[in-house]
Amino acid sequence: MKKVNVGIIGLGTIGSGVYEALLDNAELIRQRSNVSIIVKGVCDKNKKVLKTISSRKDLIKTSNAADLINDSEIDVIVELIGGIERAKHIITAALNNGKHVVTANKALLSECWREIFPLAEKNNLFIKFEASVCGAIPIIRTLQECFVGNKIERIYGILNGTTNFILTEMKEKGYSFRKALKIAQEKGIAEKKPELDISGKDSAQKLVILSLIGFGQDISLSDVYVEGITEIEPQDIRNASLWGYSIKLLAIAKDRPDGLELRVHPTLLKSSNLLSDVRGEDNAVFVRGDLVGDSLLFGKGAGKTPTASSVIGDIAEIAQQISFRGKHIVTYNYNYIPEKKKISRIEELSFSFYLRFSVIDKPGVLAGISSILAENNISIANVFQNERKEGKAVPVLVLTHKAKEGDMRKAITRINKLSYVTDKTVAIRIES
Ligand code: HSE
Repeated sequence: MKKVNVGIIGLGTIGSGVYEALLDNAELIRQRSNVSIIVKGVCDKNKKVLKTISSRKDLIKTSNAADLINDSEIDVIVELIGGIERAKHIITAALNNGKHVVTANKALLSECWREIFPLAEKNNLFIKFEASVCGAIPIIRTLQECFVGNKIERIYGILNGTTNFILTEMKEKGYSFRKALKIAQEKGIAEKKPELDISGKDSAQKLVILSLIGFGQDISLSDVYVEGITEIEPQDIRNASLWGYSIKLLAIAKDRPDGLELRVHPTLLKSSNLLSDVRGEDNAVFVRGDLVGDSLLFGKGAGKTPTASSVIGDIAEIAQQISFRGKHIVTYNYNYIPEKKKISRIEELSFSFYLRFSVIDKPGVLAGISSILAENNISIANVFQNERKEGKAVPVLVLTHKAKEGDMRKAITRINKLSYVTDKTVAIRIES
């Protein structure tokens, strides 16, 4: 039986999950892959964590990553510490030292892929990162291998479980954003510092990785337009439902002839769209390819065992490749990524919009607003006002036909200055 030695760096939730699952399912993995995957060493900066690891006599336990990176018997380094600088140092040192790498680090890959992928290729080593996007969902492998014959036209979905949980609580229980966030934190779904998730940046990092692989284009995090969910109010979720829509934080990437469209923002989505039914912490990604048409992948986007499942899938694939097919096979050629394609600015794109105006209920208000919309080429599809409070502030809801984002921004700036507009106008894009 062939043997492949692994060093795990970072024994947090995911790292300990990988370690435990590699032990618990060792026999099953060995039978299926015909390779014995041995954890030769584990590393964590916290010595107390190292003590909690139940271990064989010959398991290396260290707080110094170099002990594993420099161990000549270790074939694969699994980086699970997260963050950028130290993780980058570990991964580059491992690749320079002839080790294959598995990581779940989306922040690092979305910002530093230009340095890391070529280094792996130059050294004929694998860098695998299935767990970096949507936890257990095999979206990277699907794009790199199963759909390799497709021209990918669009990738879009719910890439963040925390925000989907919050929006689900807001919809189903009528909670405010703050209350739903607190519940997510109490349940251990949201981080104590939730900014990365609620700001949409976590989804944007994942979208960069998916777009890079799917479109084969040179993409940076700054190419993605990002809005989070902190401004969403329960009334908008209720209003959207009245018109047959859900509100979801979508990450959307489209390869269009005139440029790439890359954006993350709250979106009204028809209830008939399958993504509308993705509840709680679950994630789902649609891929549209010229051969496959639309394909939907659904599953757990985070958590100890779902994420460990993807990490182990990557380790096992490397183990099989190096055991039976030789070291010099790469499954994806990152070198082919061409010159940067034009990235469409959000202002140039057109959307239908949900608008909520807060206005004093008096004659002429709707006429004033609709004339500003018309002057900016925005056509109204539907108007709704269900409260009557003469002389007081009420919400007026409008759905528009497709209009340019730039025109919408100009119109809203003018509308917000009208004397009878009492609060900032809420605008949410509709995805069809
Ligand atoms: N915090 C992420 C989420 C999981 O809520 O989906 C890791 O990217």
